[in-house]
Amino acid sequence: MLMEGKTIHVAAVDEGIYELVFASEHSVNTLNRATLAELQEAVTALKATADVRGLMITSTKDSFIVGADITEFMGMFAAGEAAIVEGLSQINALFSSIEELPFPTVAAINGLALGGGFEICLTCDYRVLTAGAKVGLPEVKLGIYPGWGGTVRLPRLIGVDNANEWICGGAENRADKALKDGAVDAVVAPEQLRDAALELLRGCIAGKFDYLARRTEKRSPIKLNQIEMMMAFESAKGVIGAKAGPHYPAPMAAIKTMQSHATKELDDALVIEAKGFAKLATNEVTPALVGLFLKDQLVKKVGKKYEADTAPVKQAAVLGAGIMGGGIAYQSASRGTPILMKDINEDALQLGLDEAAKLLNKQLERGKIDAPKMAKALGHIRPTLSYGDFGNVDLVVEAVVENPKVKKSVLAEVEAQLPEGAILASNTSTISITELATALKHPENFCGMHFFNPVHRMPLVEVIRGKKTSAEAVARTVAYAKALGKTPIVVNDCPGFLVNRVLFPYFAGFSALLRDGANYLQIDKVMEGFGWPMGPAYLLDVVGIDTACHADGVMAAGFPDRMSHEGETAIERLYSLKRLGQKNGLGFYRYELDRKGKPKKLVDEELPKLLEGSVGSAREFGDEEIIARMMIPLCIETVRCLEEGIVGSAAEADMALVYGIGFPPFRGGALYYIDQMGLDVFCRLADRFSDLGKLYQPTDKMREMAAAGQKYFGKESRA
Ligand SMILES: NC(=O)c1ccc[n+]([C@@H]2O[C@H](COP(=O)([O-])OP(=O)(O)OC[C@H]3O[C@@H](n4cnc5c(N)ncnc54)[C@H](O)[C@@H]3O)[C@@H](O)[C@H]2O)c1
Repeated sequence: MLMEGKTIHVAAVDEGIYELVFASEHSVNTLNRATLAELQEAVTALKATADVRGLMITSTKDSFIVGADITEFMGMFAAGEAAIVEGLSQINALFSSIEELPFPTVAAINGLALGGGFEICLTCDYRVLTAGAKVGLPEVKLGIYPGWGGTVRLPRLIGVDNANEWICGGAENRADKALKDGAVDAVVAPEQLRDAALELLRGCIAGKFDYLARRTEKRSPIKLNQIEMMMAFESAKGVIGAKAGPHYPAPMAAIKTMQSHATKELDDALVIEAKGFAKLATNEVTPALVGLFLKDQLVKKVGKKYEADTAPVKQAAVLGAGIMGGGIAYQSASRGTPILMKDINEDALQLGLDEAAKLLNKQLERGKIDAPKMAKALGHIRPTLSYGDFGNVDLVVEAVVENPKVKKSVLAEVEAQLPEGAILASNTSTISITELATALKHPENFCGMHFFNPVHRMPLVEVIRGKKTSAEAVARTVAYAKALGKTPIVVNDCPGFLVNRVLFPYFAGFSALLRDGANYLQIDKVMEGFGWPMGPAYLLDVVGIDTACHADGVMAAGFPDRMSHEGETAIERLYSLKRLGQKNGLGFYRYELDRKGKPKKLVDEELPKLLEGSVGSAREFGDEEIIARMMIPLCIETVRCLEEGIVGSAAEADMALVYGIGFPPFRGGALYYIDQMGLDVFCRLADRFSDLGKLYQPTDKMREMAAAGQKYFGKESRA
């Protein structure tokens, strides 16, 4: 053994070929500080050894190296631009020293190589990949770009157009694409990986391959003339800038950086990369996005804990083949859990099946699945009008109409058909889980499983614990949600659960603004500019004005002190006019189908007249005031949910809002948003609007925390 560290060891393989192995004691290899220090040691040892003729870099884990250690980012970024540049220059020196080793190098990539993990591969002369592995530079998703030479080496290796796509898109690229684009040199079966890497090294040693020419290519200016260069970068800027939008600066910064160092040699180019990186890493968006990544990890960890204590669901069932039931059946089947889909209406069953087939067809067209896989998935859905086969079902999701009486009777009916210990979960949006449980003989086996529409696209599932729900029921439901590829977040029962409880105060803010004379078009524009995927009026149309009115009533009854209101709201007026939103083509907007059959939103000139009496006479509102009046109730209600233990942690609350209602990710979530503003500033802002009612009044604990200078996310969890 030439070197043996905690994570890295280096040993001779044969004929002067050495192997540098990443073998972390954790589940994956990351390039944390300690590992980078060991890497330095390993390179020093290799340089000092006379008989080395070639080096192969490998991993003992399922993945190769998943990237830098993101938990270290916030500390690094908080040190300021100069310190970041200094830190990067040290790592770049280390990476360059791998590239300059006096013998050929090959990365034998057996699984995921991402970010820094792929940048290390780029320093090698050759890259061999197994067929199932993926490689990429996903840094832009964290608000940064590759800072360990990725923006320099990749365009020199695969060309500017490809590098723009890889770096600005941040995708994990499959082996076939990586090979086609030239990012790797060979793709082989896993059992051939070592031999293929060794073969390449022997070829270099024998002088068959000119590995030094490859180094020169990665270290020289990009070989395009000025006009070609301008065309490549300028045309990409338009497309990528438009796609990223104004709130996500990283992709554009990556292009600009690549453009500005395109004519430079490696060392100068690395300095430019580092300076741009430092600027990006110290802007406001990066900590929010890095924080979200870490919150997501925490949510996953919580999910895994639940999962560990239970058995997977082998056979599921869904009651109701409507919008939600059909979507749940599709999701379950396409992810490999067979599901019975029961309805009382044969036509509904057919509609549910047609919807699943349509979604699978789209996957087929996009090449995501093949025909046998599609047939298998469809075969996983068994439509039925009876309870005949319910005797071996592990978990049932009830998704019938939103009516407590109907739900209670259906739940009691199905309970009688289920084997002992099977779990029942309701997809109700508004009805108390504890209340529904009163219809059951075994309330301990019952919980809520709240999906969002459209099921196949929305990542969140709220798992709702009623008063009598057992730990096993929660765990099994969490495990099922994970098997469906969703992110489950466990919450305690209350009106609206977590997500709707927080969303309706936001809608209340909207109604109050209209009542006071604000223009709904301006509000939508301002809130979309703030970062929401759609403004509140548009969102209400998509949710359905009838659904919103119904849920609003439930919330008002549940929290009369702050969610009840007097007089007819604009939303209620639309409901009484039967303008139900997108579903019937008329709501705050009117909708026409475009050529693809998708509803197109149009301004309805009639609306102001129709709303007369439910809205105040027009008055000017500044954008800042609109944002404050919309966001304060949402934020305070999120805090209440945390304080009351409806949600387990600040991280879960923020993730639920991002995944459930599209809270702008670059703002990090409601609690992070408060943190960033400063709790004291937030309370002072809220106090300016206290006459609008209790929704605008911070809790006592918020004021205490503000006085004590506390935050919802400490240094570490924000990192
Ligand atoms: N649509 C949404 O955006 C959304 C989002 C989250 C949750 N939810 C909730 O999901 C549930 C279903 O909503 P949806 O929008 O799919 O409704 P839907 O009206 O589209 O479908 C309901 C289906 O249930 C069937 N049904 C009625 N009684 C039944 C019974 N006794 N046994 C079996 N099937 C029966 C109906 O035939 C219909 O096909 C509701 O509780 C709703 O609140 C809806």
